Amino acid sequence: MHIANPGRLAGWLAVTLVLAFGLLLAPAVLAQETADRETATAVVGVTPDTWRLVRSGEVDANFRDSRADSNYNLVNASGEGWRQWRNRWVSPFGLIAIGGMALMIAIFYLLVGRKTLDEPRTGRLLLRWSVLTRALHWSVATLFILLALSGLNLLYGKFVFRPLFGDAIWGAMVSASKVAHNYLGPLFGVLLVVLLLKLLRHNLPSREDLTWFKKGGGLTGKGHVEAGFANAGEKVWYWLLATAGVAVILSGFVLDFPNFGQGRDTMQWANLIHALGALGLTAVALGHIYIGTLGTEGSFEGMKSGYVDESWAKEHHSLWYEEVKESAETPPAPAQAPPPEDGTLPQRPT
Ligand code: HEM
Repeated sequence: MHIANPGRLAGWLAVTLVLAFGLLLAPAVLAQETADRETATAVVGVTPDTWRLVRSGEVDANFRDSRADSNYNLVNASGEGWRQWRNRWVSPFGLIAIGGMALMIAIFYLLVGRKTLDEPRTGRLLLRWSVLTRALHWSVATLFILLALSGLNLLYGKFVFRPLFGDAIWGAMVSASKVAHNYLGPLFGVLLVVLLLKLLRHNLPSREDLTWFKKGGGLTGKGHVEAGFANAGEKVWYWLLATAGVAVILSGFVLDFPNFGQGRDTMQWANLIHALGALGLTAVALGHIYIGTLGTEGSFEGMKSGYVDESWAKEHHSLWYEEVKESAETPPAPAQAPPPEDGTLPQRPT
């Protein structure tokens, strides 16, 4: 091959090499420049050791966050403590409590089964729950379930739905959960307090509660334990809601309205109390829902229609039955269509 002008070619090669070398070096040079600029603008004397002090919570006027009238340290060391508590203790506690409860219910159902009525139904009904109580109960129950699902999604959803659906769908899911949780929470709080006030007189402790506990509520076996309007098990559920439930509501308000001057540490405490209480209650609620549906014959229809059969009342709430038995009523039979006047047999609808 004949090269017309070897000198010129060598010149082009040299230029190309210099350009390529320059391109390779450019990022390193730029980074160095950025670092130099940062060093020039940083506070004089701030070294990695200073940052370590700030991070460890060392108090110094210079380490303060100067935004607004905040008196926080620049790096809030307690935030890391909160994160560890949430991830190492609260999240596993929820999984163990809720998963453990679901497993126990499944085993109990397989071993013991549904508690059916010992005596046949008499067909005479007693009013147990007024329309107002039922409306309150079902509103609180629906809101609780929505709050539980959105709350569980906020805590655990990223491990399940993010890998399943990808970032875009997961992002929409988690922000919808957050908005729903923030708005439904206060409504649940108000309605739960009204329900608790309405049921208070039935849930005051009484002497027969001790016997009920000693006999395990008659959960297994054939016998029945004496109880008034609410048995000791229901009273436990009531007082859990009146204590842990109210703590969940109050801490929820602290988290929902951060504009009342509460500090970051208060919010972190509120978050831990809220999550622990809500996860514990969700686990116990599974037991309540099981007993109110699959677990006990006749309970659900009471909360649905307001009326329970006399036999159910006698077996589950004998002391209450003694108080109200005179008011038992036989519901009117469903109205029969009158026979046609011309004596022909009624036609079946086609
Ligand atoms: C789908 C879910 C639920 C079902 C099927 C259900 C079912 C029932 C039933 C059947 C009763 C009446 C028991 C009886 O007559 O003795 C009852 C009572 C009650 N439920 Fe629920 N429930 C559910 C969810 C909830 C939730 C989430 C809460 C609270 C957060 C709740 C709070 C109560 C309270 C306070 C009582 C009254 C017990 C007492 O007198 O102390 N329920 N439920």
